[in-house]
Amino acid sequence: MIQICEVNKYYGKTKVLNDINMHIKEGEIFGIIGHSGAGKSTLLRCINRLETYEDGSITVQGREVKNLDERELRFLRKDLGMIFQHFSLLERKTVFENVALPLECFKYSKNEINKRVDELLSLVGIQGKKNMKPRNLSGGQKQRVAIARALALNPKVLLCDEATSALDPNTTKSILGLLQDINKKLNITIIMVTHQMEVIKQICSRVAIMENGEVLEIGDTEELFLQNSKNLQKLVGEDDIVLPKGTNIRIIFPKEISNDSIITSMARDLDINFSIICGKLEKYREDILGSLIINVDNDNRENIKDYLNYKKVRWEEIINE
Ligand SMILES: Nc1ncnc2c1ncn2[C@@H]1O[C@H](COP(=O)(O)OP(=O)(O)OP(=O)(O)O)[C@@H](O)[C@H]1O
Ligand SMILES: [Mg+2]
Repeated sequence: MIQICEVNKYYGKTKVLNDINMHIKEGEIFGIIGHSGAGKSTLLRCINRLETYEDGSITVQGREVKNLDERELRFLRKDLGMIFQHFSLLERKTVFENVALPLECFKYSKNEINKRVDELLSLVGIQGKKNMKPRNLSGGQKQRVAIARALALNPKVLLCDEATSALDPNTTKSILGLLQDINKKLNITIIMVTHQMEVIKQICSRVAIMENGEVLEIGDTEELFLQNSKNLQKLVGEDDIVLPKGTNIRIIFPKEISNDSIITSMARDLDINFSIICGKLEKYREDILGSLIINVDNDNRENIKDYLNYKKVRWEEIINE
């Protein structure tokens, strides 16, 4: 759907995108996460050519974005809806008028506009707010208006730049739910730029981690969690808690076996003691994934590793630094 190959971008002498490679597949919800200044927004703006890039290639449905003329660019932007952290609504216009704006630009008739805006407001769940001004809406409702406006021209992709960063946790959840619905119902590919791990965990099937203009890692969200990617840990700001003596082993529970009693059966079968240092279960979209860190005497270490291998359980030894 969107192919990004070896893209570099400079602001003056500063390189803000450094050799970016990414492939976003049709119908997926793809996350781009990273700290402030990582280059996430710049990359997103290169995709719809609000920004240019010096070299490399970005294609949307096979068309090189850099080479489009004015008319082609208009149609590219029609295919790429966009929403922002601060909604970017026109304060003087009503909800209806805000959503109607792109339709007017594309010369839809009055009747078509009335029908389409009603459809969109009902899709995003704010039919009753049609004649209100943005200032009288809550943050979540404003973002729903912005989503309706972004969907007006039936885009194939929705680009979301920190779409939930200005919202409280419950409103964030409901907006993410709406985006998930839109992705499923309308088969719209979604790119979520965010610095919130919660957003990635709740709705993104794949994620790219960016820092200082570079992509550090790309992969399935769950897989990165199960591998306990160091980059992901750095983003969440969590370090492993481990004991300074003995051997610390992380046992990883993918969704199929998170309910199994591997810990108790290991204690029984091997007849050894170990301490549980910490553990966590986390929800990734529909699945619960978990990991547990145990500490064992060095004498038992090989036994435990053999046992976990025999049971086909994923594990890793955490080396004290
Ligand atoms: N118009 C501009 N002129 C010069 N430098 C810019 C411009 N826009 C962005 N930058 C720089 O490019 C880098 C990447 O910025 P960008 O806005 O893409 O980061 P981001 O990952 O979206 O950050 P945030 O999470 O804060 O939104 C930053 O160092 C920023 O200062
Ligand atoms: Mg940004």
